Amino acid sequence: MAEFKLPANSRITEGKTHKAEAGAKNVKAFKVYRWNPDDGQNPHMDTYEVDLDKCGPMVLDALIKIKNEVDPTLTFRRSCREGVCGSCAMNIDGMNTLACTKAIHDVKGAVKVNPLPHMEVIKDLVPDMTHFYAQYASIKPWMQTETPTPSNGERLQSHEDRAKLDGLYECILCACCSTSCPSYWWNGDRYLGPAILLQAYRWLIDSRDENTGERLDNLEDPFRLYRCHTIMNCANTCPKGLNPAKAIAEIKKMMIERRA
Ligand code: SF4
Ligand code: SF4
Ligand code: FES
Repeated sequence: MAEFKLPANSRITEGKTHKAEAGAKNVKAFKVYRWNPDDGQNPHMDTYEVDLDKCGPMVLDALIKIKNEVDPTLTFRRSCREGVCGSCAMNIDGMNTLACTKAIHDVKGAVKVNPLPHMEVIKDLVPDMTHFYAQYASIKPWMQTETPTPSNGERLQSHEDRAKLDGLYECILCACCSTSCPSYWWNGDRYLGPAILLQAYRWLIDSRDENTGERLDNLEDPFRLYRCHTIMNCANTCPKGLNPAKAIAEIKKMMIERRA
């Protein structure tokens, strides 16, 4: 995916302004990052004036309205529009979040919309998630067992063990946390980052999984796990209210306990 890399000296400039339709009374400006790998131009911020009286309440509603009615070339990801799929993650008003659950009225002044930070950009608001997904695959995010499947076909779990997955299973892999993490910005090639480590912990503490030792072996590395410096950006930004830093601390505790 190297061809999608922005030039190192690229500068973001002001682009076009698209005025609201005549007579609009409740106008809000959206300043949106634009970059097209095919036009040879540097990235720029286009301004779109949106009539909020004719728009849904969320930032994603405004982006869809812009794409449908003003500029069909505007490119972004979305699917569920209710905070479940994680695909509309972007940086809005300086914070990584989901466009579909971010209310427009929560933003004072113009709404600045950028792609998730420190990711290569494919186009406009679409980051390249290839490396992130490869890191996810590297933790083998599925149940691994040694013992034969019980005759009824189900591996049961007590209520207490099931409760240990709360605060973890809700993760939608939006990458808001990892792309807000300074350690991930600078060492993302080797550090797994908060999202993937939260997922790793989700399998480490699942009472039904029987591969805990190998999972810990795979994380025992100066970079994959130990680049977390507890800066806490991850927990502050997670749109699902999860705490990846806590999950990382629990993994470190498991490492210490198994050495004892
Ligand atoms: S922990 Fe939160 S911010 Fe991170 S990927 Fe999961 S849902 Fe997104
Ligand atoms: S607590 Fe760790 S994972 Fe979270 S932002 Fe800070 S360094 Fe990154
Ligand atoms: S569109 Fe699915 S989380 Fe926003």
